[in-house]
Amino acid sequence: MVQTLTSLAAIRWLSACGQDAFDSEMRDWLLELDALSLDIKETRTPQSDWHAAVEEMLSRFELSEVFELIDFEQIRKDTTLPDNGAAKTKIDFSHIPGAPADLAFVHQVFAMDSGRAVVPHGHNNMVSAFLVLEGKFTGRHYDRVEDQEDHIIITPTIDDAFGPGGITTLSDDQDNVHWFRADEGPGYLFNVHVRDVVPDSELSTGRVYLDPNGEDIGNGMIRAPRISYADAHALYG
Ligand SMILES: [Fe+2]
Repeated sequence: MVQTLTSLAAIRWLSACGQDAFDSEMRDWLLELDALSLDIKETRTPQSDWHAAVEEMLSRFELSEVFELIDFEQIRKDTTLPDNGAAKTKIDFSHIPGAPADLAFVHQVFAMDSGRAVVPHGHNNMVSAFLVLEGKFTGRHYDRVEDQEDHIIITPTIDDAFGPGGITTLSDDQDNVHWFRADEGPGYLFNVHVRDVVPDSELSTGRVYLDPNGEDIGNGMIRAPRISYADAHALYG
């Protein structure tokens, strides 16, 4: 009996040590992504370095560990899937002991039903990344070649199927337009992004909606009309 109690105490102790190690690793991960985000905002790191750096960070852990980091079960309970488009839920890292209260990157989960989408849009003055948590998606990205008054010239760069663990990234310079449609839902995407990454930019951070099914103008380029949020959701949400 004494031996059994001693063994149980040892298991509890080992399990507490395991949790401490996990919490410490997650806190360090948050601090590392915070530092990368600040470096990009303050131009110590070029936007071109964001893609590989954040992809490595997002693929460092098993998905089950990412679920624990973001408290995915709670997010799932708190989120109502909308009839059109995707719901956005902020992630609360306060359950990770020592997690910084203020982070230089935005952290959220997009959730959508089957057939619904994060509609096609580009970004100004921002770097961003998606990690598929659950569901099967068609993910598309485009390079933003030229901004015109009523159109944006784009060229397709990614058009692929993405399942859990799939990652894509974007910056002002590369793969700037993205569009994720949940083919088998519910679909959940972990998103991190950094706003205002170009000091003194006159372009406010935010979405630029466009219709990628525009005019084929040759050389792999599309003349995509700029459209409204409402039209983007009517067409693709
Ligand atoms: Fe976006």
